[in-house]
Amino acid sequence: IGPDVIDIRKLYAQTGMFTYDPGFLSTASCQSAITYIDGDKGELLYRGYPIEQLATNCDYLDTCYLLLNGDLPNDKQRGDFHKLVINHTMVNEQMQFFLRGFRRDAHPMAVLTGLVGGLSAFYHDSTDINNPEHRHVAAIRLIAKMPTLVAMAYKYGVGQPYMYPKNDLSYSGNFLRMMFGTPCEEYKVNPVLERALDRIFILHADHEQNASTSTVRLCGSSGTNPFAAIAAGVACLWGPAHGGANEACLNMLEDIQRQGGVAKVGEFMEKVKDKNSGVKLMGFGHRVYKNYDPRAKLMQETCDEVLKELGLENDPLFKLAKELERIALEDEYFVSRKLYPNVDFYSGIVQRAIGIPVNLFTGIFALARTVGWIAQLNEMISDPEYKIGRPRQLFTGAERRDVPAGFKR
Ligand code: ACO
Repeated sequence: IGPDVIDIRKLYAQTGMFTYDPGFLSTASCQSAITYIDGDKGELLYRGYPIEQLATNCDYLDTCYLLLNGDLPNDKQRGDFHKLVINHTMVNEQMQFFLRGFRRDAHPMAVLTGLVGGLSAFYHDSTDINNPEHRHVAAIRLIAKMPTLVAMAYKYGVGQPYMYPKNDLSYSGNFLRMMFGTPCEEYKVNPVLERALDRIFILHADHEQNASTSTVRLCGSSGTNPFAAIAAGVACLWGPAHGGANEACLNMLEDIQRQGGVAKVGEFMEKVKDKNSGVKLMGFGHRVYKNYDPRAKLMQETCDEVLKELGLENDPLFKLAKELERIALEDEYFVSRKLYPNVDFYSGIVQRAIGIPVNLFTGIFALARTVGWIAQLNEMISDPEYKIGRPRQLFTGAERRDVPAGFKR
């Protein structure tokens, strides 16, 4: 296929040989034209556009349009797409009763996995993954309803009434209102927080074949319905090595803060470097980036803006994070392994400042990543050559043996 890439399928067809590559370290699972990462340079492009330019000049719905359709919308396309999305922001009222089956203290990711999968039971006209019209309607529904579902999961947990979507607000403004508004008073959207949230959504919108996206592709390759495939992505994202890292990172910062803050950073770093401790510097390291994750830079800037807006410039966790980063970037352990901050290192501090509870951070990530999952799913299903994903294995178990005579019950 290219100078560094072998198409092993030909070898398999000729000889039956296959490769062994746990964790897909050196295996491309598909061809894709959506997102490009140059891990050595620290570059991220959506459909060819640098993430820095998208985060500065576009909003999240422009980014959704781009990921789904391959190009940025013109004014008419932008207006039409916006209208289409806001037409679908409400969820079926029955979803409230479904939600009530959960304990109030359930983790929002458990709730969200259920709610997203449950959509397939409510929208029977968009469950055939092989029908392009069904896929399109499911895509719009998912993008439109994720903020409503995430906000409902939050309101349910805190015991407050749900807020219906308000469609004259922006995508992010509407989400802020559904989260923090109450029926008792008018909610005024803070434009700095609205922009910051929108940027968080843009930065998380897609990231090529990460674990959750690969999960969505694999799940969708069986021909299951689009809502079920996206629910599988939500479930995968929850893990602390993936989207759950933002929650784990903030918990880590709070732990160090409780133990003495910046003064304890040196001691903590020694633990991280001790392989027997099992402690990792959460929000650091990446399978593909062997340089600074460009999203982390943008997130740090957003963090500065939000903390300034809220008068929290002296936020101790932000200071702590900066100190950890400073030390790590000069430390042989991190330098030699090319470990840099990833998108999760600063995103938790921004979200916490906005008022989002720590256990909802990964839910915000899922909301934003939904469009990427759908775009990738669409790309796979639209390829006439797509096959069900079916990895092989190297069997290491018992050889053939007989059930002992007399075992029969
Ligand atoms: N802290 C300390 N050491 C680390 C860290 C870290 N955060 N990340 C990697 N290392 C070390 C590993 O122990 C390993 O050391 P070794 O060579 O001495 O054995 C080396 O760096 C290479 O790391 P791997 O785990 O082999 O790299 P892999 O590509 O498999 O893992 C991952 C990448 C999972 C992201 C890892 O860096 C990690 O666990 N980071 C912390 C969790 C995190 O922030 N995840 C979010 C990723 S971004 C996202 O999903 C949005």
